[in-house]
Amino acid sequence: MPRRNKITIVGAGNVGATCAHWAVQKHLGDVVLVDIKEGLPQGKALDLAEASPVFDFDCKITGANDYGPTEGSDVVVITAGVPRKKDPVTGKFTSRDELVEINRQIVGEVTREIANRSPEAVLICVSNPLDAMCHVMLAESGFPTERVIGMAGVLDTARYKFFIAEALGVSVEDIHGMVLGGHGDTMVPVPSHTSVGGIPVTELLPQDKIDAIITRTRNGGGEIVGLLGYSGYYAPAASSVAMVEAIVRDKKRVLPCAAYLKGEYGYKDLYIGVPCVIGKGGVEKVLEMKLGEKEKAMLEVSAQAVRDVVALLPYGKK
Ligand code: APR
Repeated sequence: MPRRNKITIVGAGNVGATCAHWAVQKHLGDVVLVDIKEGLPQGKALDLAEASPVFDFDCKITGANDYGPTEGSDVVVITAGVPRKKDPVTGKFTSRDELVEINRQIVGEVTREIANRSPEAVLICVSNPLDAMCHVMLAESGFPTERVIGMAGVLDTARYKFFIAEALGVSVEDIHGMVLGGHGDTMVPVPSHTSVGGIPVTELLPQDKIDAIITRTRNGGGEIVGLLGYSGYYAPAASSVAMVEAIVRDKKRVLPCAAYLKGEYGYKDLYIGVPCVIGKGGVEKVLEMKLGEKEKAMLEVSAQAVRDVVALLPYGKK
């Protein structure tokens, strides 16, 4: 019998548990959920396993507070960390930058545990600040760059596509487009490469409407935090699972992901959201597309924002 895929998800909170839910519902493989909170990963795993006879998924789901059961994982999604929250007193939201120090330590420790037991795995970073945490995972794992990927572009693009579909009253299935750059307020939606059933979006929506969609996309995370008081998780988990699926099924999907650039788009030694071919090996290729001068300038602003956060990390230059 062929060996089943093993998918580890570290952090059994909102995003992690929802990833597990969709991964098993899509029959992607056996799932191991790890968290420091006692009872949480075990409880989520048991609850999900009890749903398996209802939806007929034959996946083994394990919850643990240690890394033993993660051994030999094919894909590891790291969601462990502290999410953005609204301060009940000041009403201010935690900025992504404020999360750097605390999440750096959490992500660093988790990555070392994972890399020791699953040296061949593809690692997907979900913890924020996303682009900087990719650098932490790359440095702490010692893995080749193609096996350390960040999940941001799929989520940002999903929000962008949803807003376009909603504005035009058409199916989300027929929207194609990309959001590039870092996962933050400076991300770069690219209307020049966005189409609706093959028709450029710029021919269907007026510029002011497109601009409003771009602004709403950039504030997409904050909009949800404003409503809930904590970060969203359905869309982040769905986006992570799309990447897991592309890897375990070797789909060669073209997905916007945070990838370590080695000269593409004029950037080096920096994680930035770009279109990637995602398959068994992780980032199998970075696809370069022609950007207009305005888009290039926006990408540079975004890259600088990533560099500023990466500069806070103890990994030298970058
Ligand atoms: N090891 C394992 N798990 C940890 C560790 C650790 N060292 N530190 C924290 N965790 C766990 C927490 O116990 C919690 O269950 O990570 C989980 C995070 O879950 P939530 O607080 O529900 O956060 P969530 O909304 O899932 O977001 C997770 O994704 O979008 C990003 O910014 C967000 O970094 C955050 C991550």
